[in-house]
Amino acid sequence: MPIERVGVIGAGTMGNGIAHVFARGGYQVTLCDVEQRFLDRALATIGSNLDREVAKGKATTEDKATALKRIVPVLDRAQLANCDFVIEAATEKLEVKAEIFRDLDRICRTEVVLASNTSSISITKLAGTTKRPGKIVGMHFFNPVPVMKLVEVIRGLATAQETFEAARDLAVKLDKTPVEVNDAPGFISNRVLMPLLNEAMYAVMEGVATAGAVDEVFKLGMAHPMGPLTLADFIGLDVCLDIMRVLQDGLGDPKYRPCPLLIKMVDAGWLGKKSGRGFYKY
Ligand SMILES: NC(=O)c1ccc[n+]([C@@H]2O[C@H](COP(=O)([O-])OP(=O)(O)OC[C@H]3O[C@@H](n4cnc5c(N)ncnc54)[C@H](O)[C@@H]3O)[C@@H](O)[C@H]2O)c1
Repeated sequence: MPIERVGVIGAGTMGNGIAHVFARGGYQVTLCDVEQRFLDRALATIGSNLDREVAKGKATTEDKATALKRIVPVLDRAQLANCDFVIEAATEKLEVKAEIFRDLDRICRTEVVLASNTSSISITKLAGTTKRPGKIVGMHFFNPVPVMKLVEVIRGLATAQETFEAARDLAVKLDKTPVEVNDAPGFISNRVLMPLLNEAMYAVMEGVATAGAVDEVFKLGMAHPMGPLTLADFIGLDVCLDIMRVLQDGLGDPKYRPCPLLIKMVDAGWLGKKSGRGFYKY
């Protein structure tokens, strides 16, 4: 089935980036969120990100206008009924996503693939909320979506080969690089990255080094573009804690125990860059 119209659920950080790259890739996009102000904010963000592409000579002003025209913002999920592929990028809560998948299963044609951009929730579990488990797949984009090349394409236990291929081929058409991963807590990216960030936090908590010193070691010694504590602040310390808990619950190994300092900082409302305070002050 040719894919021409793509539905995106959730117009936040990731949803607006995903809508952006699909629109730039020539797809018609129906972008759905729960409040008009979130849709307005998403379209404003996409507009300014497209301006940046124009300023860098990567797109023309006509490309910008064409891309924006391809995005139809909607509040009513039923308007996704004519989509050929849907990707969910709503809040990282199982109950939110489960409700969306149950509803999409009712709304969308039976042959339509439903993908999730979840960072950590089981694709197999989401598939289990629908009557089309073979048509459910993970498509894990990275932030900022228009810039980052990687898409982890995640096979749930029941994901059909043709579903996996549809998601993988779409990623290639968006000029991204798909990497195949099987469903497991944290997939590959967060399974490996989060324990690194968590261990850096332990080092700070134990007084082995300051946050700045830990970050310098990784920037200068390992050629990382930013150190692990700066990265944790950018991701959001609450998000880091949620992911560590998914790893701990899902894998059961004590090595995934969230750092007590991380828990304390989240309790204090120090969530990183977005709250003005994390391992650094913003
Ligand atoms: N932020 C990142 O760096 C990042 C990276 C990769 C993957 N993800 C994943 O992408 C997803 C979205 O994350 P985000 O950072 O964009 O979050 P966000 O909070 O910026 O946006 C989530 C959006 O979903 C909307 N939403 C919530 N419930 C909804 C519903 N029932 N129907 C429609 N819209 C609904 C919210 O109103 C909000 O606009 C999560 O699953 C997250 O784990 C995030």
